[in-house]
Amino acid sequence: MPSDWRLNGFYDGTKLTGLFEAAQRRESCRAFSAAPDSEQWNALLAAADELAMPGVRIALGICDNSLFQPLMGLLMKFENVQRFAAVMTTDDKPHSVVNAGISGEMFLLHAAELGLGGCWVSGTYKHGQVGLKTGEGEKIVSLIALGRPKNQPEAPINRKRKEMAALCPDFDRLDPALKEVAQYVRIAPSAINLQPWRMKLESPSSLSVSVGRPGQRLDLGIALCHALLALGSTPALFSISENGQSATIERL
Ligand SMILES: Cc1cc2nc3c(=O)[nH]c(=O)nc-3n(C[C@H](O)[C@H](O)[C@H](O)COP(=O)(O)O)c2cc1C
Repeated sequence: MPSDWRLNGFYDGTKLTGLFEAAQRRESCRAFSAAPDSEQWNALLAAADELAMPGVRIALGICDNSLFQPLMGLLMKFENVQRFAAVMTTDDKPHSVVNAGISGEMFLLHAAELGLGGCWVSGTYKHGQVGLKTGEGEKIVSLIALGRPKNQPEAPINRKRKEMAALCPDFDRLDPALKEVAQYVRIAPSAINLQPWRMKLESPSSLSVSVGRPGQRLDLGIALCHALLALGSTPALFSISENGQSATIERL
């Protein structure tokens, strides 16, 4: 598997402490009391630039709540969404979608660090109503609804997640650093909460994370963001398969 992936060394592990903590507090927020204030907005603009990996652009936009009204019924209702981020790929490479998942989740966790709430939204928005200019070859892979949360998350967060044994049957055999990786992947968000990740011990020091379908490459990226945060400054090499559906994390 090629290991010249730009993810290696892209983020400075020593600067990610706040995001590591935010990942533990994060849950999807769909009800907002207000838009981010100007200071938060400026911090988001800077983060959108800094955190976007090659092949990815994150643009911020202004909207009203009708952008997020699901067409069918009241399921997953959104309330008072006034701002969003659009996570875009700028080329057709399979791993750019994975990069988009990593970059978007870093961005969402940065928003959480600023005291904001947010939610990935790739399905339940009106695709024709986004109103952002996209450059040639750019494609929106998901929106992220953003704002000041109406209610703060209550600790401890009760997450609906699969058993670890289903996500990572080898869990008991992992070393402590890779156990932390698996636990951080488990709390990551995923589309329709499918948690499509399968983690496998490939050698005593390497763990693979895979998804079954091309449409799940964004979820793979989100999981890899969590893996990176769990590792912190533990040296590791990430590699990705040609089809962008599998990545290996090798502890060095
Ligand atoms: C790629 C992606 C797409 C998502 N799309 C939607 C969506 O269209 N509408 C929605 O209400 N929630 C959406 N979600 C939020 C998930 O439903 C949510 O992350 C999942 O249920 C887990 O809950 P948690 O984020 O609170 O841990 C999406 C999440 C991800 C990661």
